[in-house]
Amino acid sequence: IKKIAVLTSGGDSPGMNAGIRSVVRTCAYLNIDCVGVYRGYQGMIEGDFKPLDARSVNNIINKGGTILKSARCDEFRTKEGRKKAHDQLVTEGIDAFVVIGGNGSFAGALIFNEEYNFPVIGMPGTIDNDILGSTYTIGFDTAINTVVEAIDKIRDTASSHNRLFFVEVMGRDVGHIALNAGVGAGAEEILIPEQNLGLERLLESLKRSKKSGKSSSIVIVAEGDKIGKNVFELKEYVEEHLPIYDVRVSVLGHMQRGGNPTCFDRVLASRMGVKAVESLLEGKSNYMVGIRDNQLILTPISEAIKAHTEIDEELVKVSDIMTT
Ligand code: F6P
Repeated sequence: IKKIAVLTSGGDSPGMNAGIRSVVRTCAYLNIDCVGVYRGYQGMIEGDFKPLDARSVNNIINKGGTILKSARCDEFRTKEGRKKAHDQLVTEGIDAFVVIGGNGSFAGALIFNEEYNFPVIGMPGTIDNDILGSTYTIGFDTAINTVVEAIDKIRDTASSHNRLFFVEVMGRDVGHIALNAGVGAGAEEILIPEQNLGLERLLESLKRSKKSGKSSSIVIVAEGDKIGKNVFELKEYVEEHLPIYDVRVSVLGHMQRGGNPTCFDRVLASRMGVKAVESLLEGKSNYMVGIRDNQLILTPISEAIKAHTEIDEELVKVSDIMTT
């Protein structure tokens, strides 16, 4: 392997730049050419490549987003699209690639590898932390810190006005952001898709909370929760059934995907980038780099794309106790 490409794909996450930097610098260290692919698989199809050397990635470790840009690419889902991408890689003399992204990006890499036997290694980059084979994904730590900071601020105003806030957080189909940030920010209730406690229990808990002397409350709602009502409908429901509360809603949205990565995400991405390049040079392909018990591990991409939905039961218990 003489030339490795790196791309970021799917929803961006803080720490992707640190990952790109790591892949580029590891290549430079090992005297291998490195090429950046812009706009994920879309750029691969269009041949949007740029050679990257160690100096091209100066001063990006601290930056959110991705200097290579990202895209969710429908064309890569088609055989014709993947053929175009393969032709571009061959023309450019690229021998392997590292893709930093989430489930969708890995699913694309898997099919591409099956069709062309093209060496590929994945690095998990998503704020959702929903990838099997890694306890942490790049960007999750930053996102939960961003959410905690936002909720701390919401709590100030909630408490001044004795209000109840429903705060919706991201996470697609999983509740990792909600649960972790909820415990970290001391939320009164956390609604996650993995555990549908139902509307009755929510009302009971809010009643209990008020009775116990709490004047304001924060309920974190994971965007994919299964309670059957979105945050605005929840507000109406509580106002109707529990008129003791003055209720407001805050949807945190895409601010959760931005911002300077935490030190944890920078270090994680740096470690994973080294491992990704080393693995390709050892002849490995179709694996994702992950971390478990602080050790870097490789999981077949076919395994990694099975959604990571088991929730941390111990943390659920802690949350239950803390909301007493
Ligand atoms: O996968 C990351 C994520 O931010 C999810 O939490 C969210 O559901 C989705 O992406 C939003 O996607 P988009 O940026 O396309 O609106």
